[in-house]
Amino acid sequence: MNGTLHINEGRYRVNWNALAAIGATPDGGVHRPALSEAHLEARRWFLETAQGAGLETTVDSAGNHSARLRCGPPGAPVLLLGSHLDSVPYGGRFDGALGVTAALEVLQTVADQGITLDTHLEAIDFTDEEGHYANFLGSLALTGKLASAHLQAPRGDHARFLDALGRAGLSEASLFTTGRDPATLAGYLELHVEQGSRLDEGQVEIGIVSGIVGIRSYHVRFVGRADHAGTMPMERRLDAAHGASAFTLAVRETVMGELPGSVATVGNMAFEPGVFNVVPEVVTVSLEFRADTEVRLDEIEALLREAAAHAARRFGLDLEIQHLDSTTPAQMHKQVQAAFAGACEALGLRHTTLPSGAGHDAQCLAAVCPTGMIFVPSAGGFSHSAREFTRWQDCVNGANVLLQAALALGRV
Ligand code: HGY
Ligand code: MN
Ligand code: MN
Repeated sequence: MNGTLHINEGRYRVNWNALAAIGATPDGGVHRPALSEAHLEARRWFLETAQGAGLETTVDSAGNHSARLRCGPPGAPVLLLGSHLDSVPYGGRFDGALGVTAALEVLQTVADQGITLDTHLEAIDFTDEEGHYANFLGSLALTGKLASAHLQAPRGDHARFLDALGRAGLSEASLFTTGRDPATLAGYLELHVEQGSRLDEGQVEIGIVSGIVGIRSYHVRFVGRADHAGTMPMERRLDAAHGASAFTLAVRETVMGELPGSVATVGNMAFEPGVFNVVPEVVTVSLEFRADTEVRLDEIEALLREAAAHAARRFGLDLEIQHLDSTTPAQMHKQVQAAFAGACEALGLRHTTLPSGAGHDAQCLAAVCPTGMIFVPSAGGFSHSAREFTRWQDCVNGANVLLQAALALGRV
C-alpha cells in the first residue's frame, strides 16, 4: 500500500455480502429479474444502506435508484458511478452488483475523508439493464434517448410489462420524463466483471474498456399448420419446428463461416401449441446478434434474414420477423480511459485495454457525457450463470481504481 487513498474493504465486503444474499440461489448465484420481488428488495437495500451512510437518495421516473454526495460547489454537475442490481434469470452475483456496491463505497470513502471536488458524486442503479422487458431501459430513459419504438414489443408481453411497472410505482408515460440535461452530467464511470476470460488468462488485474458492441434483438416466427401427431404423414406436415431448427443451425454456420468475430444467439424457442401430440403450428425464435460497428450489424442482419427465409421456404412455412430493440456500438471516452490508466499506475495494478462483447449501461451514457468502464477478471470467463466468480482482491482493486478515477475526473 502506498500513500494513495483506498476504499474501506471491510465495509465494502459487508455490503457486498448483504446484497448477494438477496435473491440468492442454492448454487451460489442470484435470481433478480428486473422488477421482480427480489430485485425490488435489492433496491430497497440500496436506499436503506445509502441513507444509513448519510447519503441523499432519489428514485427517478424510470425507477433508477440513486445515492448522492454533495461534495462539489452548488450547481456543479454530477459524476455518475454505477451499474445495475437486476440479474438475468438464475445469473451470477457479480454482474451489475459489483459496480453498484463499489460506487456506494466510493461515495462513502470520499464522505469519510471530507474531500471536496468540482463535481458532486452519484451512485446509480439503472432499471432493467438485462432487458427482462427492454434492454437498458433505465439508462436510455436517463439520457432522454428512450424511443417509444423501444417499448413497442417488450420481452414477455406488454400487459406483463405494464403490470411490473405498476408494482414498482412507474408507468409507461413516466419513462419518457426521466431525461436529464447533459450539462448536469460530468461523466459516467462503471466497474464491471469482464464476463470473458482475457484478463484471467492474461493475469491482468484491470481491463480498460475501449468500446462496447451494438446489439439487435428480434422475434423470428415460423408459421406452419397444427396437425395430429399420429395421423399426419411426415411428408405432408407444415411443421414450424423444422424451420426454426434449420434456422438455428444456419445462424451458427453463417456467423462462424462468414462473420468471424461476431456473435449471434438463439436464446429461446416458443412452441405453439407446445404439446407432445400436436405438430407445432408456430415457433417463435428469440434471436440477438452483436458487433462493434453498425456496418457489421447490417451485414449480419442481411445474412440472417436470408437464412430465415431459406429455412421457411424449405419447409413450406410462412415467416414473420419482428424487430424488438437495438443498441448502438459505443466508444469509451479517451480522457476517461486515461484517468483509469493513471489510477492503475498509482495503485500499481497491471492493466490493458480491451473491447466489451457484453452490453452495458455505459453504451447509453456515452451518447451524452464522457463515459468509461473498467473490468476486473472473471474466473474462467463464466458469466450469466451461477458459475460467475471474481476473486475478492480483484473486486477491491476495481473499487480502488474507480475511486482514484472519480477523484481525478471530479477535479475538473
Ligand atoms: O446482455 C448483456 O450483454 C448484458 O449483460 N446486459
Ligand atoms: Mn449481464
Ligand atoms: Mn451487467
